[in-house]
Amino acid sequence: PTVSIQDNTVEASLPTGESVTVHLYGATVTSWKANGQEQLFLSQKAHLDGSKPIRGGIPVVFPVFGPPPKDHATSALPQHGFARNSTWEYLGKSSSESADSQGDMTVKLDFGLSHTLLSEEFRKAWPYEFALVYSVTLNKNSLMTALEVRNEGKENFDFQVLMHTYLSVEDISAVRVKNLESKTYIDKTQNATSHTEASNALAITGETDRVYQALDPAVPIIVSSAADDKPLFSITREALTDVVVWNPWIEKAKGMADFAPDEAYKNMICVEAGSVSGWQTLEAGDSWEGAQNIKSRL
Ligand code: BG6
Repeated sequence: PTVSIQDNTVEASLPTGESVTVHLYGATVTSWKANGQEQLFLSQKAHLDGSKPIRGGIPVVFPVFGPPPKDHATSALPQHGFARNSTWEYLGKSSSESADSQGDMTVKLDFGLSHTLLSEEFRKAWPYEFALVYSVTLNKNSLMTALEVRNEGKENFDFQVLMHTYLSVEDISAVRVKNLESKTYIDKTQNATSHTEASNALAITGETDRVYQALDPAVPIIVSSAADDKPLFSITREALTDVVVWNPWIEKAKGMADFAPDEAYKNMICVEAGSVSGWQTLEAGDSWEGAQNIKSRL
């Protein structure tokens, strides 16, 4: 594998042609190419200069999902926390032969963020001594992202975490999301009311913003082609029991200044693996790890 670092991005590629690009800003994966194709959606108006969280790819949401609650340790933070709008450090790479295949290579890139790297503003707003290690592992057919959270301080802290993956799809009306049937979800487009998923192949036909809860991380969420039922993406998780399914649809897409073109809502679906319906409490000195593994066009 080759790894190159330039302009605040780290890019790795495999001899078989797959590649991944990560911006130090947010440790945001902005490109993942596999099977000769880009797998992630990136808005044409995404800010790549560190002035705003990157609209597309895989922003990391930490330590709060969505608007922070009132009277909470995260209350002074922006929506989705500070990880996606802080500059991380590149910790290095490692590579090996994949265990699961015939001599295929694997490359892993590690990124770090800790309280010492935060802006003063964020450090004041969330004054805990923490360290994050985010590992992005590229295989021939899959991309794995894993986050380790460490509490290096003397007091406990609570956090939420989510990998806000923007998957690229050709046509939103031609995909289905599977393995959510009978699961409970909070519908953020309907005053956060609770519902039970009735469909075994969810079609996205309007603005969608749902937090599916208490899922078995080992059961893949599958984005499949409606025409022939073939899987386009299959996402398994570790320790991440919630999955957010988000598509802004027509009006919301138009309303986001950094979302372009307006019609690009047809070319993306966010399937976001996280731990967001409650809070993880991390005791002083402890660490926690969560991960997602996205397989493409199996
Ligand atoms: C999703 C949320 O995870 O992120 C949505 O469920 C939100 O409610 C979306 O609109 C995008 O958030 P942002 O802050 O990147 O515009």
